[in-house]
This record gives sequence, C-alpha cells and structure tokens, in this order.
Amino acid sequence: MSYRTDVSKQRLDGWPEEVAGNGVAVPVIGGRMVPYAYLDNAASTPALKAVQETISNFLPWYSSVHRGTGYKSRVATAAYEEAREHVKRFLNAGDDQAVIFIKNSTEGLNRVSHLVRKRGATVFSSIMEHHANMLPWRFQAGAVRLIQADDQGIIDEEDLRTQLRSAPSGPKLVAVSGAYNVTGYTPPVHRLARLAHDFGAEILVDGAQLVPHRQVDMQGSRAEEKIDYLVFSAHKIYAPLGSGALVAPKSALDEAGPDLLGGGIVDMVTLDEVAWNDLPDREEAGSPNVVGAVALGAALDRLRRLGRDELEDQEAALTTYTIEKMTQIPGVSVLGPPAGQNRVGTISFVVEGAPHGLVAAALSYEYGIGVRNGCFCAHPGLLHLLDVPPDQVEIVRDRLRRHERWGIPGGVRVSLGLENTQEEVDRFIAALTQIAQSDLATSYNLNKATGDYEPEGWLEKFDLRIQAQLSAW
Ligand SMILES: Cc1ncc(COP(=O)(O)O)c(C=O)c1O
Repeated sequence: MSYRTDVSKQRLDGWPEEVAGNGVAVPVIGGRMVPYAYLDNAASTPALKAVQETISNFLPWYSSVHRGTGYKSRVATAAYEEAREHVKRFLNAGDDQAVIFIKNSTEGLNRVSHLVRKRGATVFSSIMEHHANMLPWRFQAGAVRLIQADDQGIIDEEDLRTQLRSAPSGPKLVAVSGAYNVTGYTPPVHRLARLAHDFGAEILVDGAQLVPHRQVDMQGSRAEEKIDYLVFSAHKIYAPLGSGALVAPKSALDEAGPDLLGGGIVDMVTLDEVAWNDLPDREEAGSPNVVGAVALGAALDRLRRLGRDELEDQEAALTTYTIEKMTQIPGVSVLGPPAGQNRVGTISFVVEGAPHGLVAAALSYEYGIGVRNGCFCAHPGLLHLLDVPPDQVEIVRDRLRRHERWGIPGGVRVSLGLENTQEEVDRFIAALTQIAQSDLATSYNLNKATGDYEPEGWLEKFDLRIQAQLSAW
C-alpha cells in the first residue's frame, strides 16, 4: 500500500472506456448539454462494462443456488462460488477466514457488532469513522472507546496504545477504516494490526473506501500484521448490484453461531434440535443475491486484469494533480493531509464564504459536474476537522428539531475513480475557480426544509428533463 508521488511519469487519463455511461451528456443552466463529469466515486462508482456484459450473459442462466439440482441451478451455483473465490483471491483472505456475501459494508459492520456483543468484546474505533463503522459499536456492541485524531484527521496511535493497555481483560476489537471517506487518508492498517495483536485484540478494517483503490493483502507481511475482519461494498467497486463481502475468522463465527436465522443455514432441523450447516453457508440465511455476487466477482476480475499497480499509480498521480491545483485557488482549503501523503483520491474541501450546498449546486447546475456535499455520514469526524464549536452544533441541532436542514456545517467532496481524466479535473478546477470568486450564472434560493440550493428559474426545467429521461427508458 505504498504511495507513488512522481506525477510527471504517470498517466493522468484513466480508463474512461471501461465504464458504462461514460461521456453521457447532461443539461446545464443556459440550456446547453455537456459531458457529465462524475467526481463522486466515493459514494458509488459507475458500473464497469465488464460487469454489464457478465450480468447480461449470466441472466439467461440465472437460477436458485445451492438448493436446486437442475442444470441452471448448478451453473448459477458455480458462478456464485466462483465469485467468492474472486473475493478471496483479491484480498488474499486465508483458509481460516470465511468470505460471506452481504448487502453492503453497513450490513457487514452491523453483523460484526452482533458478534462482538455475543463475545462481550470491547471495541476501539476512532472519531473519524463513517457512521457505519461507529453507530453499530456505540449502540449494538456494548463497550466502545473512540480514539482521538489530530487536526488532519490522522488517528492517534499513542492514544490507541494507551486505551488498549488500560482496557479491561476480555476480547477486544480494533475497528478502523482502511481509507477515510472524508479525507481519503489511509491509516497504516498493518501497523495498527500489529499494535492490536500486541494487546491480544483483533482488528477489523472497514474497506469500503480502501478496497476499490488499493491492493489489500489481508495476511500482511507477517502473522502479527494479519487483518482479521474486513468489509467492503460492491457498489463502490464498479459493481452496483447490491452486494458486498465480509471476511471474518471462521473460529469467531463458529464460536458465536449464525447471526441471521432461516433457510439455507442448516443440515437438519427437528423440533428439539438443529444441525447447522458449515461456513460460509451458515452465515448466508435466506436466498442470496446471486446476480450481485456474480457482478462483484466480474468487477474484481476485471480490475485484476487491468493491473492493480497501474490503477493505483494513475489514481495517485491524478489525486496529487487535483490537490495541487485546488490549493492554488484563493479561498479553497483542502481538509486532511496534504498532497503526497498516504491518501486515496477522495478530497474534501471548503470554500471561504460559500456554503457547501451552494458550491455543489453550482458545480452541478452550471458545469455538469457531480460531487457530494455535507458531512458524508461522518459527522463527528467532520465537526472535528472543521473545528466547529459546541454552541454552533447546538444551534444546528435546535434547527433540526424544527425539521430545518439548512446551515449544517460540512464540506464538498470530489472523489476519483478509474474513469476520471485530467481533462475532467481541469474542468472542475476552472469551475471551482469561478465559484470561489462568487461568479455564478444565476442566483440560488436556499430551501430551508431540505438545505438544498435551487437555481432560480431553472429547477422546474431540470425536473421536467429528468421526468422525460425516465419515460424515455
Ligand atoms: C468508510 C465507509 N465505510 C462504510 C460505508 C458504508 O458503505 P455502504 O453504504 O455501502 O454500506 C461507507 C460509505 O460511504 C464508507 O465510506
């Protein structure tokens, strides 16, 4: 997971031809159509064409898995299990670890929180985590300790060490992101694994933002560096068909017993006894999302063939290029570590004097550039990075009680994927430069109920076009 910074030697033009929908034209204020620049890959990536093709080839063969003896069932079962092998190989998961298909990272983290509760473990997470890697621990797992971070959002390893040292005896789990969805920062997960294991704790890596961008070797370079648990989502890795994976130690799953109960997880049920199935089937109650799993397998296979090193190099180069350009724009501040530090292509920023909602609205309505704004489901982390004082938080909370969603502190986020090009980044930089100078094509009205900025005289026109788009399908 090293970071290469020599931009001059890298390609900056990505693999736009690999994704479905690349170059689709969208309307902007003034009535022109422009090619859509999608810079919101941290939320969801577009589908790879390889995924689209695999699914279209697979659907005629789609059938129930595991439970049917018919030929199509056997084909579908083989495809489903092959997808599991792709996940295993992509992450270098061990034979002592089970790969379980899930809906998304959120489900995986919730499932581990149930396991943690059953085992009575103490969880060590950080204040920078996505809510999916925070709320399950806080509300479903029992004891949780949140590790501090510095003003760039970098986890305080000494605080983690101190907290682990002073923890009560019993099972412990360190649960951290492999890459933060606000700053893109990639904590040293194998070093954290060593630290966790030194204190008899296990480690879980929330790989939602890591796995799509960096090669992950769950075994590390030696036993102490092994990642015990990992989750990630297919829709963030170019396979948006509702799947994801949880990798977990078989021993922990065996000890805790199945999390979800129902069909497909037993060998035999009588009225007084149940003979549970083996892993991984025992953790996949109900009919699985076969199409989603096959899509995920196809995406991982395609990324492997494109070359993980090349993908990483391209993203690192374009990230450095983007951050360097952004920091030259007066009034724009990038959150998190500077360019050249360990980070994936996820870049959050604020513009002096311009609300985040207004910046994101202008990028979309005036330039056809899709970004995300707000708190990115990581409120404690973002409030920390923005250094928002408690009395301001209280004012916002008061407004929310009145169902008014405006004025919430936040930022704007651009996030790169393999399809992005230097030309798209240049378009974004030119647009942001204009917006930072308050040079807007129209005025915007703040909708206080939603917190959205709506372009005066244009909102209805955009809504009508969207309706026309839907009926054209
Ligand atoms: C770091 C991180 N963890 C977890 C999640 C949750 O992923 P999902 O919505 O796919 O469950 C996200 C989503 O953005 C994320 O960025």
